[in-house]
Order: sequence, then structure tokens, then C-alpha cells
Amino acid sequence: MAEPLITFTPAPRARVEAMKEYHPPLGNRDALRLDFNENTLACSPKVLEALAAVSAGALTRYPERESVEALVADYLGLKPEQVALTNGVDEAIHVLFGAFLDKGDELLVPVPTYTMYEIYASATDADVVTVQTADDLQFPFEQLIAAITPRTKVITVANPNSPSGSVATREQLLELCRRAPQAVVLVDEAYFHFHGETVMDLVGQIPNLVVARTFSKAYGLAGLRLGLLAGPAELMRWVRRVLSPYSVNLLALACLPAALKDEAYLNDYVSEVITARGEFESALDRAGLRRWPSRANFILVEIGARHAEFVRHMRDAGVLVRDRSSDPGCDGRVRITIGTREQMRKAAVVMNETLAQMRAGNEAL
Ligand SMILES: Cc1ncc(COP(=O)(O)O)c(C=O)c1O
Repeated sequence: MAEPLITFTPAPRARVEAMKEYHPPLGNRDALRLDFNENTLACSPKVLEALAAVSAGALTRYPERESVEALVADYLGLKPEQVALTNGVDEAIHVLFGAFLDKGDELLVPVPTYTMYEIYASATDADVVTVQTADDLQFPFEQLIAAITPRTKVITVANPNSPSGSVATREQLLELCRRAPQAVVLVDEAYFHFHGETVMDLVGQIPNLVVARTFSKAYGLAGLRLGLLAGPAELMRWVRRVLSPYSVNLLALACLPAALKDEAYLNDYVSEVITARGEFESALDRAGLRRWPSRANFILVEIGARHAEFVRHMRDAGVLVRDRSSDPGCDGRVRITIGTREQMRKAAVVMNETLAQMRAGNEAL
């Protein structure tokens, strides 16, 4: 092999170097996918029609998001200047932090929660202040209020939260906005459809409230990467400064109107999942496993010390579930996405067989 021409390697920012690596276990997911809280079936057929109607000529153009943004704003009862489409909620988080978090600022995050808040915070010079949730994994409202300082610049609340499935009330979120007027309060409603409660109607009325939604979960469009951020125009103008005008691609923009329009499809999927959630909760109770109440399309379950073995056994039997043991306060816990009743009945059978096999090998489970 030839000698390299140049031998030095530029160093990353110290914050990036210190970050934990985050490698979600993607790849080889040709199984029952109960690991990423996706829609486990399909998107609306109307979306596929819209996708098929995209012409080769259309793909030569840069995507034009404005008219679709106006449509979404109208759907949400908001003004176009209050809504920005994003490349998934992930980009919404990234640009919000990029616009508001400076050196010396604090990002306040109740944990355990969605991992990407801390990851994107590492791309800024702000400090991350975490508030550990108690063992019941309920929203740590009092502790969060107590952790607010004059430096608190952004507070993130996933509502419902992942991996716990717990929720904050509207009153708690309002109080958080009142108690931290210097901070942007991001309410991440990625799982809104399975919960049914929202603060979207307050956008524009509360000067520091910003709400995120995704098309990756109930709508079944995770592969398109489509999300949105809604907030007062005075805040959204700063978000737009750092948002790439092309980050939402043409295919996603072409599909979005059809996805919004086919409410019947969305509602059917959501009610199927909610029914399946109730059934699966009973299956977990019968199996004697501790679980946390969930308002989302997943349930956190206590497996104990042999969590990794459980996840491996389930995978071998064709059901993917997600080990959350390394999340703060989640040792021994596994998150199981809820799909349809049929899928969850299969998952329950596989789970019971897995537990039986593991118990046969060791009484300690
Ligand atoms: C709370 C929460 N927010 C955001 C996301 C990511 O959403 P998107 O696919 O729109 O980037 C997830 C995905 O798991 C999530 O759990």
C-alpha cells in the first residue's frame, strides 16, 4: 500500500469527542418490527398513489416547501409563518437547538427520554442539565421546575415520553412555560395520535411554546423523513434562519397532502393500536411482568438482569424489541412497540415461549 501523503488527522470539537456513540440497531430488520415505534403495517395507499404520480421532470427541481407548509399550517389552524416542515422531528430538534442554544446556556431535559435531545445539544456549546425521573417514570414536574435557572434556554418534553410512555398534563406544560419565560419549551408530540391530547392549539398564544410533530409514527412515513415544528412567528423566524430550504425532499412534500387527507386510514390504524395496546397490557400482566402505563404506541417492560438474553431470544424467534437498559434509570427494561392486534398476539406467544425457555434455564428470571 502506498504511504499516505498527509498523516495528521484534524480533531473534532471536544464536546463531540466526549459524546457516547449512538448506534440504533438498524439492519436485518426483516421480522416483526416492535423496536422503533414505527407504524408496523403500511402508510395510506393514497400516499403511494401520490408517490407514483411524481414525474421524472419533477425530480430535477429543488423541492418547494412553501405551499405544502401553508397547507399544513391551515390543517393545524395556524399561520404559515408559525409552521416549518423539517426532515423528521430530528431536524426540528437540531435546528431549534442551533437557533437558541449558545455557550453558557442550559438545556433542561427530564430523563430517560428521546436520546437525540442530548446528541444535538452536543453539537452546541450549551450545557445539558438532566432531571432524573423517579422509578414510577412519571413526568418529574416538580423537579423540573426546581431545576430551572436564569441560564435555562431550552426545555424539552416528549409528550408522550419515550421510552416510558408517560405524559405531562396541559396544566404542567403551561406552568413550565410560565416559570421559564427566558426559555423555549419544546413539546415533542411525536406520539400525539396515540395519546389524543395536544398543546398545538396554544401555539402562538404562549410566547415560548414550540410543538413538534412527526409523520414517522402513526402515519407510517418514517422512511420519508417528515416532521414539523410549530411556534410563535417571532421564534420561528430564527429557526428558519438555520433551516436548510431543501431539507424536506420533493417526494416527502409530494406525499404529505395525501397523508393529511386520508384521516380515515390514520384513525383506523391508531384505534387498532390502542385496542392492541390494551390486549397486550393484559398479556404482560398475565406473564407477571412489571410494565409502565403508556399513552403511546409502545410499552416499557421490566425484564431484569437477563434483558439482553430476552431481546436476543425474541429476535431469534422473529420479533424485534428494543433493550433500553442503558437509558438512565432503565436498567433491565425493554421497550416493545405496539402494532396490530394480530401482530401483538403473535408477539405475546413468542414472549411467553421466550420467558418459559429462559425460566427453564434459570429460576432467577
Ligand atoms: C420522542 C421522539 N421524538 C422524535 C422522534 C423522531 O422522529 P422523526 O422520525 O420525525 O425524526 C422519535 C423517534 O423515535 C421520538 O421517540
